[in-house]
Amino acid sequence: MTDQRKTLPASYYTNREIYHAELENLFCRMWICAGRSERIANPGDYFLCEVAGESLIVTCDGDTIRAFYNVCRHRGTQLCVEAEGHFGGPIRCPYHGWSYGLDGRLVGAPHMDERAFRREQYPLHAVQAEEWDGYVFVNLAPASQPLAVQLSALPGKFAPWGMRDLRIYKRIGYEVKANWKLIVLNYNECLHCPLLHPALNRITDYLSGTNDPPEGNYIGGSMELRDGAQTMSVDGQLRRDYLPGLDQDQRRRVFYYAVYPNLLLSLHPDYVMAHMLWPQAVDRTRVVCEWYFHPHEMAKADFVADDAVEFWDRTNQEDWAISELAQKGISSRAYVPGPYSPREGLPSAFDQWILGRERRTDTLSPVPADLTHGEG
Ligand code: FES
Ligand SMILES: [Fe+2]
Repeated sequence: MTDQRKTLPASYYTNREIYHAELENLFCRMWICAGRSERIANPGDYFLCEVAGESLIVTCDGDTIRAFYNVCRHRGTQLCVEAEGHFGGPIRCPYHGWSYGLDGRLVGAPHMDERAFRREQYPLHAVQAEEWDGYVFVNLAPASQPLAVQLSALPGKFAPWGMRDLRIYKRIGYEVKANWKLIVLNYNECLHCPLLHPALNRITDYLSGTNDPPEGNYIGGSMELRDGAQTMSVDGQLRRDYLPGLDQDQRRRVFYYAVYPNLLLSLHPDYVMAHMLWPQAVDRTRVVCEWYFHPHEMAKADFVADDAVEFWDRTNQEDWAISELAQKGISSRAYVPGPYSPREGLPSAFDQWILGRERRTDTLSPVPADLTHGEG
């Protein structure tokens, strides 16, 4: 049956209250992709991420991935400022030197009266952290469901790409003047490809491929490579071996999935690309794009990958520019919701998911009192 749904009202892209409600109800209560676990391969390695304005430290304690609020328990000072690095010993506050183990325990608190003061009462505020297939996810809600529940069928579906084994080749950050949802919407339809991405459209037919029926916390599908094209690169040619787990059909397609709320996964025959979305304001989003390749390929003397990076960097910029125009137009008093075509089922499904989550917020677990009142 024809999908006659319309786009969302302007307020979903312009209203600060709705934006903050999304941060609270989605980004503070769902599992958020923080980055690759290979960035914290060794104990003491860390990187920072910022979820809904909260700076988090993601680190490795032995075999355990841990995440903490970047907040000292003494007088609240932010502990780390470098985006990534390595703790050679305890995590030390730059203000008065309180120090914490990689498990978050307070191990040093100079000048405190040890008779009246119990270190064990002042560990770093921990955040849940789990790993899936090479990606670290964090969750600010202490009583959330396990990550596996949120991901549902995805781990099995993506197993052939062996993402855990791949390694980062390149990371590019973009500042996009558009609401984060416009970036998700744009990612999930290719009706814009002929006009906006002529290079991409030469490699995959925008009307090809199939979408999964929308369900759960993700949407996506695949597109077929045109005859003569082998992967998404500047000329469609393959310069690396296929990823080892792919069958013949998977070698002829590119798979695009939005894993709600902040991860966009693009699975190619010979590499994987991910976008992580970090909302900064109702009309501004930081997008971090990473490209992953198989280490066997990266070890080859003639390994090249800039063909894939350049192709997508250009395509990304085309997408960000049109998303910024969408933000501007939607912000006009003249904007009213417009009709989706039958081929815009995924964007429409994302809108419905947003509306559905809005209705569910009263059933979600609240932020614990000790974090809302700043005592513990
Ligand atoms: S605020 Fe961190 S040691 Fe004082
Ligand atoms: Fe696009």
